[in-house]
Amino acid sequence: MKITIAPSLLAADFSCLADDIRRLEDCGITELHLDIMDGHFVSNISFGPGLIKCLRPHCDLYFDAHLMVEDADALLEPLIDAGVNSIAVHAEACRHLYHTLEMIKNAGLDTGVVLNPATDFKNLSYVASDGLLGRVVIMSVEPGFGGQSYLPMSTGKIASLAKWRDENDFSFIIQVDGGVNEKTIPKIIAAGADDLVIGSAMFKNRDIEANAKKFFALTQK
Ligand code: DX5
Ligand code: ZN
Repeated sequence: MKITIAPSLLAADFSCLADDIRRLEDCGITELHLDIMDGHFVSNISFGPGLIKCLRPHCDLYFDAHLMVEDADALLEPLIDAGVNSIAVHAEACRHLYHTLEMIKNAGLDTGVVLNPATDFKNLSYVASDGLLGRVVIMSVEPGFGGQSYLPMSTGKIASLAKWRDENDFSFIIQVDGGVNEKTIPKIIAAGADDLVIGSAMFKNRDIEANAKKFFALTQK
């Protein structure tokens, strides 16, 4: 299966975002990861639907929103209006996860559930079996900040999730988010990931073109 590379906008230069996403697109990137943080679910604050709406006309990238917020339901409509293609919500933040995923799906968007390192995936079977689970995002760091180190326990969790998906005939995408770089990619792919969020390593030295080339070479074999 083809591995998708999803650069995280969080690591871009916020003074020239439109330029950065155009550079990514010119390199062959197809998906952009958008980290939305509210200062409550995580201590950091990033950006919201207003900025995403401004960026939408600048590219054709698939916009993948990762909500690190206490009240995901309140952001669904503004994000749909901003033109995102998929919305992933944290299992730990959603009181009525089934309902939230239904709202995303009914709006015609792809759905996702994000799991903190401490959160097990087994209780997602009720949404997976009803076709509400487009992607599972394994946090391989505690959420909130870019540039953290990959937690070694994540590899076993990705492998168990991939096995569980196959055994149950589920078809969700497995995305991995946090500390993904040239050192960690081989084990993340071997464990069964389909989609890699790459933040700081993609924008390292502001050399987006060379970094993207390196990550394509590592993932497209
Ligand atoms: C962290 C975010 C990540 C972050 C990844 O809470 O969810 O998407 O941008 O950044 P790196 O690749 O630097 O770990
Ligand atoms: Zn993220």
